[in-house]
Amino acid sequence: MNALLHVVPESGTDDTVVIQTEKAHHTSDVDMLVHARFGQDRLKKTVYRLRENTAPLGDLSLVAMRRGQLVGTLRFWPIRIGAQIPALLLGPLAVASAYQGLGIATRLMHRGLARAQDHGHEIVVLVGDEPYYRRFGFRRDLARDLALPGPVALERFLARELVPDALRGVGGMIEAPRDATITQPFLVSGNGAHNGRDWFGV
Ligand SMILES: CC(C)(COP(=O)(O)OP(=O)(O)OC[C@H]1O[C@@H](n2cnc3c(N)ncnc32)[C@H](O)[C@@H]1OP(=O)(O)O)[C@@H](O)C(=O)NCCC(=O)NCCS
Repeated sequence: MNALLHVVPESGTDDTVVIQTEKAHHTSDVDMLVHARFGQDRLKKTVYRLRENTAPLGDLSLVAMRRGQLVGTLRFWPIRIGAQIPALLLGPLAVASAYQGLGIATRLMHRGLARAQDHGHEIVVLVGDEPYYRRFGFRRDLARDLALPGPVALERFLARELVPDALRGVGGMIEAPRDATITQPFLVSGNGAHNGRDWFGV
């Protein structure tokens, strides 16, 4: 039985919820939460093909903790556009159902996007509900020249620029990094994604 389904908030506020960088010991709780919120069918989605042989970015992926219990998760993954341009794939974003509406996802999104910007990333894409993600600056039109390697509901395929005009003239198929088969639980993205550095060892 998934204990996360039985979490009951002790108060109506989220002021004791702490946002932290995800660590390896959070992995099983993250998996349980994502499974509880998205179900088994999530694994059939095209975005999961991009996550198969790689790992989330450990310097960007976040968890929301309350009294030692994981109540929220936001992950970022390395991708490339047209085999050339480094970018981030955002997701999944999930908050335990008992903690919805307390602003936890908003905090995860603002913190995650700010950190990605600080680390020199320029482009973030996701597949999700546009009515939700538009508040964080994600737009359908910014992804119009991008393609995913499988079926996707186009109205859910969104992008955001972390640097103005980062997507101007950018198009092509989104891929996982070619050399992404790894064994460590997290990758480190480092700075200067457009400055010739790769995802690894920076
Ligand atoms: C979507 C989710 C991450 C929101 O988490 P949360 O911590 O409750 O979000 P916040 O408290 O920061 O924001 C709540 C606001 O988002 C709105 N919202 C939530 N889901 C939404 C959706 N799918 N579409 C539009 N708005 C949505 C709420 O109505 C609320 O609006 P308000 O601020 O005007 O009252 C959470 O409900 C969840 O895990 N859902 C299942 C997985 C999922 O749908 N993930 C992302 C969408 S693909």
